[in-house]
Amino acid sequence: MNIQIINGPNLNLLGVREKSIYGSSDFESYLAGLQKHFANITINYYQSNVEGEIINKIHEVGFSYDGIVLNAGAYTHTSIAIADAIAAVNTPVIEVHISNVYKREEFRHTSMLAANCKGVIAGFGMHSYRLAIESLLLK
Ligand code: DQA
Repeated sequence: MNIQIINGPNLNLLGVREKSIYGSSDFESYLAGLQKHFANITINYYQSNVEGEIINKIHEVGFSYDGIVLNAGAYTHTSIAIADAIAAVNTPVIEVHISNVYKREEFRHTSMLAANCKGVIAGFGMHSYRLAIESLLLK
């Protein structure tokens, strides 16, 4: 099984950025534990702050991989182009958020992407990624 995690803008600063909201672990450390937990799954990781690069990655893996776990950061709330990319591919996409976006500012309550995703997981800290992979394993 081959899964792609895609992190969008500002998520390269996890562990540094707004720690009270996003925690103090950087993503690479979390990913090492995640890969150990899912020993039989190949977890590929990509991060970009650039909308078009996120779209290119969705196109690249979206016809062959078994699942995409996508935290599009703030593009979640704005990007029709990423929504269209999700709709264009065959691979199921799980939208994830570290924070509970529904507890936060109103502009974070809207997702342009959710309707094109298989499901949404938000608010479980870094564990949101693990839960998203678990969801891809459900039959
Ligand atoms: C986020 C929530 C978004 O609203 C925000 O812009 C992010 C991170 C999250 O993981 O909680 O960058 O996607």
